[in-house]
Amino acid sequence: MKKAVHILILGATVTAAVWFLVAGKKSNSSAEDSAAANYMKYCSGCHGAKLEKFAAKQWMDEEGITPVFNSIKFGLEDLGMPAFEKTFTDSEIESLAAYVKKGIPADRSILEAALTTDALIESEVQKFTVDTVVSGLNVPWGMAFLPNGDMLISERSGSLYIFSGGKLSDPVEGVPRVMAIGQGGLLDICLHPDYDRNGWIYFSYSYLIDGKGKPTGNTAIMRARLKDNSLTDQDIIFMGEPATDRNYHFGSKIAFDGKGHIFFGIGDRGQHFDFPQKLDNHNGKIHRLNDDGSIPADNPFVNTPGAMTSVYSYGHRNPQGTCIDPVTGELWVSEHGPRGGDELNLIRPGVNYGWPVISYGINYDGTVLTNLTGKEGMEQPVFYWTPSIGPCGMTFVTGDRYPDWKNNILLGSLPLKHLERVVMKDNAVIHREQLLTGIGRVRNVVMGHDGYIYLAIETPGKILRLMPVK
Ligand code: HEC
Repeated sequence: MKKAVHILILGATVTAAVWFLVAGKKSNSSAEDSAAANYMKYCSGCHGAKLEKFAAKQWMDEEGITPVFNSIKFGLEDLGMPAFEKTFTDSEIESLAAYVKKGIPADRSILEAALTTDALIESEVQKFTVDTVVSGLNVPWGMAFLPNGDMLISERSGSLYIFSGGKLSDPVEGVPRVMAIGQGGLLDICLHPDYDRNGWIYFSYSYLIDGKGKPTGNTAIMRARLKDNSLTDQDIIFMGEPATDRNYHFGSKIAFDGKGHIFFGIGDRGQHFDFPQKLDNHNGKIHRLNDDGSIPADNPFVNTPGAMTSVYSYGHRNPQGTCIDPVTGELWVSEHGPRGGDELNLIRPGVNYGWPVISYGINYDGTVLTNLTGKEGMEQPVFYWTPSIGPCGMTFVTGDRYPDWKNNILLGSLPLKHLERVVMKDNAVIHREQLLTGIGRVRNVVMGHDGYIYLAIETPGKILRLMPVK
């Protein structure tokens, strides 16, 4: 039966080919374009974005597309290849088969195994597979994508790498010295929105002061340029004050708003009664600077005597996610509560977010920290998590690769070891989904330039990429 159908199809192929010849290049390339788009949506999750995941087989070097057509249409159930006869028309399958045959890398030795249907993760509204892009890392923290597709990766211990052509570079030279203890170290990386023109890369890290008995420091921001495998033009644009010898609650994820401002948060440094409610220090705050480190003239506390002028909002515990809403341009920050009471906050200038006067959390030892969850003059979170998820890293889903997740917020979870998907409507959380439960401590989540979602997992340290499968 299948054979008979197939002969008919071959006839159709010939007709189609003749028709392409007659109709000229335009139709041909539009069929190719839609085959490429279909491949990215339906196939790349298992076969790789560059068609690098196919078992090397005879069909690759045979004339014609018949076996390829059949495999796509009817699947290879035993091998873990789904059938697509209900998804595509025959002519779409022909275009796909031609696209695959043409696109298989000529160097067959680089081919890897395809992922199988067992590897498919069927979440509520999006199927995907997980691709391990980099492994062998030790607590990766920041990820940033250079225009050529290379990835910069920081490790908390203080190393910076360039991941290029499938390989990690030697550690980049010229990285600032860091206080790599507890939660401190080399933290986030972010490219200037105009990186193409100015080459600036921004790093957040815990600086280390010499000559103190105990390691002492605080969060700093440096910008630098990359030349070969070194950082040059290092320029420290911010140093958090005061430094302390506590080794936790440093923040600090970085975001740019596209208007020349950089935003980042510093945690309360473990001294919640000393810092977050007072404006005379940098701790427990979200900060806004111009891209060169100068203070924007319209920062909320520039005219407040005794206030640190970089402060944009205050009353924060430990902000670990900073991002700009791609639709509204507003600033969102996620922060760790104590036990319970992690928060998602919409940040407005000059606003007090209440820590530690108000909180939905309690102390880690179970004792009550504050009886207040709200107070006049203190902003409520848009959402809070009790029990805690320990949110770390946050991004909006942008681009076209995950249409059903578009503009959702993704957050990593450290203690629960999952990726949290949050659906927003009119600045309110209307739905949540736990993805990839048990994947490991998720330290960061970012959108790559290639439109894919990347996760940094702590130990064993690796970078994962979510490949959509329609
Ligand atoms: C759930 C994972 C998965 C998805 C999705 C998937 N494949 Fe496959 N595919 C496989 C596996 C596994 C095999 C068998 C191993 C191999 O040949 O590489 C395979 C085999 C193939 C083969 C070789 C068949 C043969 O005769 O040897 C082709 C061609 C192919 N797939 C094309 C596609 C195309 C085109 C799509 C998208 C429309 C697609 N696949 C989607 C997993 C998948």
